[in-house]
Amino acid sequence: MPAVRSFVAPSGLALAEQLQLLRQPSPHYIAARGVEPRHTGQSFEIPAKTYSKEGRCWVVSLTPEQGGPGFLALSERCTHLGVALPWLEDFAFTNPSDGKAKKGWFRCPAHGATFDDVGMRVFGPASRPLDRVDLRYNGADGLYLYPARIAQGSSENAAWAVKV
Ligand code: FES
Repeated sequence: MPAVRSFVAPSGLALAEQLQLLRQPSPHYIAARGVEPRHTGQSFEIPAKTYSKEGRCWVVSLTPEQGGPGFLALSERCTHLGVALPWLEDFAFTNPSDGKAKKGWFRCPAHGATFDDVGMRVFGPASRPLDRVDLRYNGADGLYLYPARIAQGSSENAAWAVKV
């Protein structure tokens, strides 16, 4: 007869509660609210850009063309002088590097630095791409941000997208 192993929770928590605690990211992480997939009956709807006030960043849902599907958290700080960047859905701009026009850019209100969906600088005085905020996917619990853990942005930003 096989030995039966018993598990006694030292803190008095049930095993299911302890396992749930183990799955939680460290306390430095906060839930990325507003980025949960919403089921519409036909498909899942995920916002393309969601601002996280707590995370001081934009959570971007990448398309396959942008290196997704996956999520990237981009710091809201312009890499020129740190002004908070809005996402301008209706702002039309021609990317000087490839001559292609499209709507939707991160555009700095201070001096016009312009960044694409993955934070690449395409125009203006900023010298580098937007920085990345640490983002984790925790299964059914969703996406978590670690606002104090910021990596310098690079041309590899899209490669850091979190797959879900
Ligand atoms: S602070 Fe953003 S372009 Fe100068």
